[in-house]
Amino acid sequence: MKRVKVRLGKSSYEIRIGPGILAEVGHRLTESGFSDKLVIITNPIVNRLYGEALEQNLTREGFRVTILSVPDGEEQKSLETAGRLYHELSNFYAERATPILALGGGVIGDLAGFVAATYLRGVPLVQIPTTLLAQVDSSIGGKVAVNHDQLKNKIGAFYQPKLVISDISTLKTLPPKELANGLAEVIKSAVVWDKEFFAYLEMNLDRIKSLDEGELEETVLRSAKIKAEIVERDEMDLGLRHILNYGHTIGHAIESAADFRIGHGEAIAIGMLAAARISNQLGILDQTELLRLRSLIQRASLAIETPSLKLDKIIQAVRHDKKILGGRTRFVLPKAIGEVFITDEVSPSLVEQVLVGWHEET
Ligand SMILES: NC(=O)c1ccc[n+]([C@@H]2O[C@H](COP(=O)([O-])OP(=O)(O)OC[C@H]3O[C@@H](n4cnc5c(N)ncnc54)[C@H](O)[C@@H]3O)[C@@H](O)[C@H]2O)c1
Ligand SMILES: [Zn+2]
Repeated sequence: MKRVKVRLGKSSYEIRIGPGILAEVGHRLTESGFSDKLVIITNPIVNRLYGEALEQNLTREGFRVTILSVPDGEEQKSLETAGRLYHELSNFYAERATPILALGGGVIGDLAGFVAATYLRGVPLVQIPTTLLAQVDSSIGGKVAVNHDQLKNKIGAFYQPKLVISDISTLKTLPPKELANGLAEVIKSAVVWDKEFFAYLEMNLDRIKSLDEGELEETVLRSAKIKAEIVERDEMDLGLRHILNYGHTIGHAIESAADFRIGHGEAIAIGMLAAARISNQLGILDQTELLRLRSLIQRASLAIETPSLKLDKIIQAVRHDKKILGGRTRFVLPKAIGEVFITDEVSPSLVEQVLVGWHEET
């Protein structure tokens, strides 16, 4: 089992990463000073796979446990579902000291985190992420949110968990598509921060994809360390933390042009490659680095071509993003693998050019 500390003064917490550590949750919570009752928020898929075992473990440790299950899917990240959960928490007489355990992927983590941040002005939150994406990205850093008026993560808060428990054994039941989604954020972490980690991924990607426990643990650990370090330096997302949006400007545009029928990781993989091509066209990123990135994305079973969506729909969505940012579209571009910079000076025609021009690369 490995540990990563997120140092945020009084809001500091630990991330624990390892195989089979779901079995230690009860003990860990007692150690952290929790007792009496707690609430698990999850969905039926994750509940069937891990909820019952977790409940037994917690009951053995002396906790009174209530499981609140919400249907699977992004559309549950809503004020309506949050409202239903507040109601159920009241029925259970949840108090200020009653912890909420978010057991699931990023959807459950964001939703349960939002509920924990707001119910009774905040109850303790424990993240137990069960997707690769959630273990390497969404469970760390305290961004919790629901969607509203067709806009993702529109209503939310910064609310750090008390503890994150990433049991990498849970990744064994993930559908391959979800593994690839998580790998996109893993590759993102390496490109924005750590060229040695990128080289590690090039070397070990096949073993990671075959769910080798040692490689999975190392991958989650290294990604979690990167995210923790960036969040420690910019908890409130005022500057440095923006680099984690690498691939997300065009990625979000693709997601919205596809009415969210495309995986988040899949969309940002295309966004990462597009941003790299922009940088290459501007004479900044080397062609060899661009090709290394393209090859790793492809090996991760992520698409390297713009999906068959109308290009103008994507461009329109990029423009929409621009309105939100006060007339500027902000891009995170790689200088080299392991180092990025932020700019709002990318012409719309260059964006269009890189989105249609995949086939030119060899
Ligand atoms: N808060 C943040 O900083 C942050 C960062 C990145 C993404 N996000 C959010 O995360 C969400 C996406 O998260 P996600 O990719 O984890 O999606 P998800 O939560 O929808 O999970 C993907 C699918 O995998 C299933 N699943 C979960 N764990 C499983 C397991 N161990 N075995 C089998 N199936 C399992 C889920 O039920 C779901 O069907 C988005 O809403 C996104 O906005 C938040
Ligand atoms: Zn993302």
